[in-house]
Amino acid sequence: MDALQAISKRRSIRSYKNEQIPDSALEKILAAGSCAPVAGSFQMSVIQNPELLKKINDITKKAMLSSGIPFSVERASLPGYEPLYGAPTLIVLFSPEGSPTGPANASCAAENMLIAATALGLGSCYLASPRMAFDGEDGVALAREAGIPEGFSFNCAVIVGYTKDDKLFSRNREDIKITYIK
Ligand SMILES: Cc1cc2nc3c(=O)[nH]c(=O)nc-3n(C[C@H](O)[C@H](O)[C@H](O)COP(=O)(O)O)c2cc1C
Repeated sequence: MDALQAISKRRSIRSYKNEQIPDSALEKILAAGSCAPVAGSFQMSVIQNPELLKKINDITKKAMLSSGIPFSVERASLPGYEPLYGAPTLIVLFSPEGSPTGPANASCAAENMLIAATALGLGSCYLASPRMAFDGEDGVALAREAGIPEGFSFNCAVIVGYTKDDKLFSRNREDIKITYIK
């Protein structure tokens, strides 16, 4: 699959098989993330420990339900909704607190990883929702548990795994406008 095919084939996958991805695929995905444009530093942590994945999932869901944000409450209230969608691999991206370029660095790396996962035949999804866990009451302790050093803030996350079902939410491109000035 070439780069343009992988970019156009990528979709947010929200249902995963209970099977871990090979380490060789994980290393390729992380290498793709490390090749992204970057202005400053960021930190990635790979979480494959089932207990910690469940903990992050459950804290995120609880925080979504009590957030008062209508979209988050509605989504987290859907029957069977799990914010990490049962994915066996979670990659969290953090950057130095207050870094003006941190979120952009992390997002560039995340997108590279989503495209790499697609090219490897794996499902993936960009996630902002774990912010609710890492910015929450016990977020600092959770970040330490997730291998993130002190002084870093959550930017985004990527989940990866084997696709079980890709139909949970539809794709919406109506808001994207392109202007040509030639
Ligand atoms: C900034 C950002 C935050 C997102 N956060 C979440 C999230 O927390 N949970 C989720 O399921 N999808 C999340 N997404 C994925 C979008 O919902 C998805 O990209 C969008 O619906 C378009 O669908 P597609 O990725 O299949 O093209 C996020 C995407 C972006 C860019």
